[in-house]
Amino acid sequence: TTTIPSLHSVYKDYFPIGAAVNSFTLRSEKEFIAKHFNSITAENEMKFESLHPKENEFTFEKADEMFSFADENHLKVRGHTLIWHNQTPNWVFEDEKGDSVSKERLLSRMENHISTVAGRYKGRIYSWDVVNEAISDHDDEYLRKSKWLEILGEDFISKAFELANKVDPEAALFYNDYNESNPEKREKIYRLVKSLVDKGTPIHGVGLQAHWNLYQPNLDDIRTAIERYASLGLQLQITELDVSAFGWDDKRTDLKEPTREILELQAERYDQFFDLLREYREVITSVTFWGVNDKYTWLSDFPVKGRVNWPFVFDKNQEPKESFWKLINFK
Ligand code: G3I
Repeated sequence: TTTIPSLHSVYKDYFPIGAAVNSFTLRSEKEFIAKHFNSITAENEMKFESLHPKENEFTFEKADEMFSFADENHLKVRGHTLIWHNQTPNWVFEDEKGDSVSKERLLSRMENHISTVAGRYKGRIYSWDVVNEAISDHDDEYLRKSKWLEILGEDFISKAFELANKVDPEAALFYNDYNESNPEKREKIYRLVKSLVDKGTPIHGVGLQAHWNLYQPNLDDIRTAIERYASLGLQLQITELDVSAFGWDDKRTDLKEPTREILELQAERYDQFFDLLREYREVITSVTFWGVNDKYTWLSDFPVKGRVNWPFVFDKNQEPKESFWKLINFK
């Protein structure tokens, strides 16, 4: 319908508005996506296991389709993600006998992966999530325990950035993480990113995943996180925004879908979040939702089986929700 404004057009003086897409949404929602978003990210299709399932086998079909769609519609593309502990096949860390691979071999595999993937899409990706979620969520632990850390040591992070920079020097390179506004985790992310900046690693931004909900995080914590990361002289991007209709600990099984009251509260939250994000448009260089509309989200069935979640500003029929109008109507 023509009376509904295009979301990204309304934000043209602020930041690009992105969405994570996948094979399902790209099949059925192309027109809708192209109308409201001017940046896209692959929800799963550019992760290690999707692009590089075996040592000598790369599978680029789905990612290539996404790039064709982006080119046809003049959409920018965010790359997600080169190095992560999750959705990375076991072969990466194993030798022929299934034993842990040597440091040298893992490094050369990392190099091969980054140069092949970032090389193929060189010049077409404005920002890469080079390293994803390397910080621990445990209070007494700094870096997350992972095979990358175990075999390569802490330097795996700077190595990944150096390799990506060599292959695609034009792309802005990001460290991306969640619980980014939680004070303890925030300080660990700050510590990591600062150490990279201090030793001259080519890092250009911090990605705030922003898997937020009705109650958390509070606005002050988000503000502090933005200012803290921005103080390092880096750009910031909101990379995986969704506003869950349920609190993180809400495991009730009787509620099968969000209520009207919940959706009203969600609209208030969206209103507050975007007020804050607009305030920081000088440092925030894109805002990406982790999906296109309420028909599909990783939060449905998770963590409560049989419960659907509606975390976005468009409903499951692509219609604008109250949250959408809050984003559109600002002074
Ligand atoms: O494709 C298979 C399908 O063939 C199979 O039948 C089905 C059975 O479970 O699984 C399908 O794969 C699922 C995949 O999503 C595609 O839907 C995986 O099981 C499932 O684990 C995977 O979840 C993804 C998750 O990352 C995995 O870690 C979510 O879609 C994706 O939204 C989520 O995204 C992450 C970001 O990359 C990083 N930050 C957190 C964010 C949310 O968890």
